Amino acid sequence: MPFAHITGWGMYVPEPILTNDDISKLVDTNDQWIRERTGIRERHIARENEFPSTMGVEAAIKALQVANLAPTDLDLIICTSSSPEYIFPATACIIQDQIGATKAGAFDLQAACTGFIFATNMGAQAIRSGSVKNVLIVGTEVLSRFVNWKDRNTCILFGDGAGAFVLQASEEPGGVMSAVMHSDGSGADSLIIPAGGSHHPATEATLREGRHFMQMDGKEVFRFATRVMGRAVTEALEQVKMTTDDVQWIIPHQANYRIIETAAKHLKMPLDKFVINVERYGNTSTASIPIATVEALQASRIKPKDKIVFVGFGGGLTWGAMVVEWTGPLPVKKHVHPAQYRLFARLRSFVRRAIRFIEGFFSRKEL
Ligand SMILES: CC(C)(COP(=O)(O)OP(=O)(O)OC[C@H]1O[C@@H](n2cnc3c(N)ncnc32)[C@H](O)[C@@H]1OP(=O)(O)O)[C@@H](O)C(=O)NCCC(=O)NCCS
Repeated sequence: MPFAHITGWGMYVPEPILTNDDISKLVDTNDQWIRERTGIRERHIARENEFPSTMGVEAAIKALQVANLAPTDLDLIICTSSSPEYIFPATACIIQDQIGATKAGAFDLQAACTGFIFATNMGAQAIRSGSVKNVLIVGTEVLSRFVNWKDRNTCILFGDGAGAFVLQASEEPGGVMSAVMHSDGSGADSLIIPAGGSHHPATEATLREGRHFMQMDGKEVFRFATRVMGRAVTEALEQVKMTTDDVQWIIPHQANYRIIETAAKHLKMPLDKFVINVERYGNTSTASIPIATVEALQASRIKPKDKIVFVGFGGGLTWGAMVVEWTGPLPVKKHVHPAQYRLFARLRSFVRRAIRFIEGFFSRKEL
């Protein structure tokens, strides 16, 4: 049975930064309150011409560069987002087209902020089953467009960004060792965008009442997060007969510094074993775990053979954890340039649209 290794990683955050002081000009809040309750100082906000797909493409190309893998070698793309481009088509398909992953099946996975753990586990399981070899996982968010900038309970928390992993099959032991995934739909109302789906389609009333924005019971989510994080870590470790002593790094979903601090206490682990960057990005939902991972790698904190636990939680309610033995890129002889495929991808996309148009024109004549 092949092992699923994380062989590539990439991140992208939009340039514009929104500080706590900037937010204090929009709602009744202040820098000190936000820092004390959340640990967040600033977050990145997408420009008007940036979307989950465009940011996801940037992160994906970087991840493919690290893995030294051509987009045409991808078998599967799973995109996970709490702020997808459309209800359908899947953001994954747009990314597939833009990077030129001509062979890959692509779909979206929705598990709110836990999405990256669920998606990475699904990608790893597809590799373990032997049905695919190369998988791209993308977590990408423009949550700033679903935040009510008049609601101080939520607008202080979220930021935009994207992160990606490449997973590859190898007979060498290592990579994704275990994972747990959990859900509790009885808490669905705790973190929700109530309108815009088929339950409450868009109407004048839903727009007027601001029901297309995120709504959150902050205290409830805080209690839930602190309850499940430690448990999920222990459960994933038990599956491979490991304890927290065997672990070099915990990379948690970056929602709130105090939530991470409480999880560390529950696990009786020192906080310096946790990768934390919520201060500079806020909560980037599905992108937060890969962004934190990329930054830890850039700072040379993570070494090959390190045991890492990824742990996340979010709307649904959902939560999960994953134990990984870190490997890095697989040895390869050839050198590929994934970014060069983008030009080819754009041309291919244009030609396919043109063919579709011409086919449509002639088939209309025939009817
Ligand atoms: C949202 C959150 C930061 C609020 O912190 P809290 O300590 O629970 O604060 P409370 O909601 O109890 O509010 C305390 C007081 O501050 C006020 N307050 C709320 N937001 C405020 C803000 N942005 N600035 C200033 N004051 C604020 C409240 O109105 C309340 O005032 P009151 O005591 O006069 O009623 C915290 O609950 C949280 O982080 N929850 C988890 C959210 C999360 O992670 N969501 C994503 C999951 S993936």
